[in-house]
Amino acid sequence: MNKHCDVLIIGTGLAGLFAAANVDPKYKVFLVTKTKTKNSNSRLAQGGIACEYNENKELHESHIQDTLRAGAYLNEEKSVRYLVDNGYKVLKNLIDLGVNFDLDEFGNFLFTREGGHSTRRIFHSGGDATGRKVVEDLRNIIRLRKNIHFLQDTMALDLIKEDGKIVGCIVLENEAEHYAIYSKKTIIATGGIGSVYGSTTNDLNATGDGIGMAYRAGCEFKNMEFVQFHPTALYSEHQISRQRFLISEAVRGEGAYLRNVEKERFMIKYDPERMELAPRDIVSQAIYREMYDTWTDHVYLDTTHLDPKFLEKRFPTIFEYCKKQGYILGLDLIPVAPAEHFLCGGIKTDLLGRTKIDNLYAIGECAYTGVHGANRLASNSLLECLVFGFSAAKNINETFKNGMKEDTYVIKEIANYNYNYKPIRKKIGDYMDEHVSIVRNEQGLKLTKTTLENIKKNLEKYPNLTKYYYETLNMVQTALLITNSALAREESIGCHLRIK
Ligand code: SIN
Repeated sequence: MNKHCDVLIIGTGLAGLFAAANVDPKYKVFLVTKTKTKNSNSRLAQGGIACEYNENKELHESHIQDTLRAGAYLNEEKSVRYLVDNGYKVLKNLIDLGVNFDLDEFGNFLFTREGGHSTRRIFHSGGDATGRKVVEDLRNIIRLRKNIHFLQDTMALDLIKEDGKIVGCIVLENEAEHYAIYSKKTIIATGGIGSVYGSTTNDLNATGDGIGMAYRAGCEFKNMEFVQFHPTALYSEHQISRQRFLISEAVRGEGAYLRNVEKERFMIKYDPERMELAPRDIVSQAIYREMYDTWTDHVYLDTTHLDPKFLEKRFPTIFEYCKKQGYILGLDLIPVAPAEHFLCGGIKTDLLGRTKIDNLYAIGECAYTGVHGANRLASNSLLECLVFGFSAAKNINETFKNGMKEDTYVIKEIANYNYNYKPIRKKIGDYMDEHVSIVRNEQGLKLTKTTLENIKKNLEKYPNLTKYYYETLNMVQTALLITNSALAREESIGCHLRIK
């Protein structure tokens, strides 16, 4: 049975939730997620939200310059200014809705620092649980809104495009019901792409679904080669899951060091000025080099000069998780290695979140807004979710036209098999890890391209009406977009390091 709404939002991370919160309550909003609303990448964000919390544009300049420098100046400056200059407004909106951030004993906001930031300007919540706290609070707030409806276990398969406009989406609910949701405006807010790689800090549901869908609908993409690897994912020799536990850069922001397996503090060789607080691309590439030179697959995060009591209070989630793995922050060296973390490019949009296709928006990690350039500055991602989630909602409120598309779309019958595509997914991850991760070369990229093209061709030949099928199709499409862009960019810049 088809459904109808005014605004369809695909994805329930921070960008989708915040957009929903800002759509005029007179419009009916559907928030669709392929799992449960509690799962998202946003909820895994530890560090925080970078924001110059004031309306004085002169005071925004250092955040703007830090963002441009981290992005190797491939950012679009007007987008960076838009991001930073709108930070106060959106964060205040979030706080006014009832979302809380950590305060000192006098009621002032507490700020932390991460790599690439020249000052402490990062808001946090629950110590190192910023994403989880913000997303949970916001979800609980908008749950009470009568115009907002959550559709869980509902996988968006493909956008419906008629007369060049997006008029909704085909979905699969509970792996059983296949129907259309007609909408006047549609927002893709599906987040990241971590599952395309063999190891990631992302939620493993991050299979690039929005990217795949947008590609099939004819969207433009930009900067897909810039995949950021977080330097300090917890390393374990016995790790089975592809998801790796993140150890926030804020731990280095509070003074932690990096040491190689010979216990040498190595960042002095790579960025003597900023050391462990250099931007992520520089730190990850330095770790890669150290691991290569020492014939190992990890380095250490050293907090042994810091007070364990302070670390436990400041980073309760990380402290507890590491303890369960046998490491006490403040006493033990913590083994870490880089893992896929963030896609800096994505579906091309303007500053209002609009794609080139009428009635279709993209916000959050799946979107390219021009703010990140060749490497994202730490804690700018949640800020981006807020700024562009708000802008898209505002634009929708201002341009909304009544009149609903008739139910004319004919849903194709597709066969249904119990395949789980695990071997194909593993192959995609293996090739991406080997040839399209921190260090890349032409030969490896070409080999990966051919392999991915063959996988895609085979998948397309045998369509299957299951979540696994569409996820795998989206993964291979996303991997191909990254690989093709990486092949096209021959220079090394930001998080794209070409050795030939
Ligand atoms: C972190 O806490 O290190 C991650 C935050 C981010 O990705 O910006």
